[in-house]
Amino acid sequence: MAKAIKKIGVLTSGGDAPGMNAAIRAVVRSAISEGLEVVGIRRGYQGLIEDDIIEMNKRSVSETINRGGTILYTARSMEFMTEEGQSKAAEQCHKHGIDGVVVIGGDGSFRGAQKLSEHGINTIGLPGTIDLDIACTDYTIGFDTAVNTAMEAIDKIRDTSTSHERCSIVEVMGRNAGYLALWCAIANGAENVLLPERYDGNEQALIDDIINSRKVGKKHHIIINAEGIGHSTSMARRIEAATGIETRATIIGHIQRGGNPTCKDRVYASVMGVTAVRLLLQGKTNRVVAYKDGKFVDYDIDEALAMSKDIDEYKLDVSMLLSR
Ligand code: ADP
Ligand code: F6P
Repeated sequence: MAKAIKKIGVLTSGGDAPGMNAAIRAVVRSAISEGLEVVGIRRGYQGLIEDDIIEMNKRSVSETINRGGTILYTARSMEFMTEEGQSKAAEQCHKHGIDGVVVIGGDGSFRGAQKLSEHGINTIGLPGTIDLDIACTDYTIGFDTAVNTAMEAIDKIRDTSTSHERCSIVEVMGRNAGYLALWCAIANGAENVLLPERYDGNEQALIDDIINSRKVGKKHHIIINAEGIGHSTSMARRIEAATGIETRATIIGHIQRGGNPTCKDRVYASVMGVTAVRLLLQGKTNRVVAYKDGKFVDYDIDEALAMSKDIDEYKLDVSMLLSR
């Protein structure tokens, strides 16, 4: 028989993402409604090690569903990567009587949750990252807001790029993944998209494309470059030299991580937060909540981390087809 859960903790870890607050709110309110006590663990695993733990009630999460960032702060903890750090963190859970922890973050944070679970703390992961780079899920908390923010920024760049008949290289975030870049490429009608998963470094092909697009009457040329490829500024210089077309590079940067979450991020994060608490109440541990093929599901974290996913080739075809 699984030990009855009485008190849970919630933390955010890794890069923040819009919608994390909606998830925290859902965890806190659904847990309290089920008669559980809830604490907020601030600054991710580092805060757990350092006992940065606060009591939470239903009012602690008032006015948060609409706010970007994370009210619990977040961190990347080197100390928690060590066996000693993990033992300290588990010890804090025992000291506070925390039986279960909801971890909101990416793959790295799930690896941390695995470790806590090995120390006897029930853990549930929620996918929180603007990068969409978690293999077991088609949706991650924050991606929708980030991609809309990037799209709006690129629309603005396009206005000025067209007015000056320039070429623009716009670098979007995504760490080693090209999901943000690909979605922006379609949504912004970019002429080219450079994805870490596919880019072969053939800059001459890019230069030929720019020259050809001028020949067919295009007034601008937008290249979406994923952060995983980078070097947008030097690429812009080389392209300008080779084509004779004025070229500017813009790195959108951390703007993509902030801002009020979209409706989708608020709703999906809320559903996932409630699901996490229900899984803990069922005595589940070492699981991650995911959204797969139109349904909210959960997987064993080991199984989830062993999955892989790739750029959708069909979307890439659509992007190329419509930009010609
Ligand atoms: P994300 O969760 O967005 O992938 P990181 O990879 O930076 O972000 O991971 C967030 C934190 O999770 C790390 O700073 C570390 O504290 C913890 N973590 C990552 N990988 C491991 C691991 N293999 N074992 C234990 N903890 C880990
Ligand atoms: O994982 C989210 C993310 O914004 C990535 O897209 C990016 O590579 C990284 O975090 C940036 O991290 P930092 O805020 O530490 O610069």
